[in-house]
Amino acid sequence: MKKYFAIIFILVLLVSFGIFSISGCAVSQKINDKTGTQLWGENCGRCHNPPGPGEFSSANWDIIGSHMRVRTNITETEERKIIDYLKNTGN
Ligand code: HEC
Repeated sequence: MKKYFAIIFILVLLVSFGIFSISGCAVSQKINDKTGTQLWGENCGRCHNPPGPGEFSSANWDIIGSHMRVRTNITETEERKIIDYLKNTGN
């Protein structure tokens, strides 16, 4: 009898891990789908307006990206998307 409980316990554990990893992926997929424009609006726009694409050199854009990343708590992928958006379209 005890053996069955152990097996059921392990099964329940495995199934819940499965569910957690599937929904975990779904969330990061949602974040990946966001464009630089959206990410700018959600993370950077609350402090200032977007600068124009010609305002900074390529090297400066990279520095600005990491400088502003520490103010917003975004991932490196999100930072890349926002900087690409600013470099190419800006306002
Ligand atoms: C908490 C407020 C805040 C947030 C959020 C923020 N910034 Fe800034 N940002 C500032 C301030 C203040 C300055 C000017 C002073 C400085 O550079 O430290 C600045 C300056 C800038 C500049 C001008 C370059 C410079 O160094 O002067 C750019 C471009 C910029 N931010 C982009 C971004 C981007 C992209 C994001 C989002 C990832 C972002 N900012 C998020 C406050 C913020």
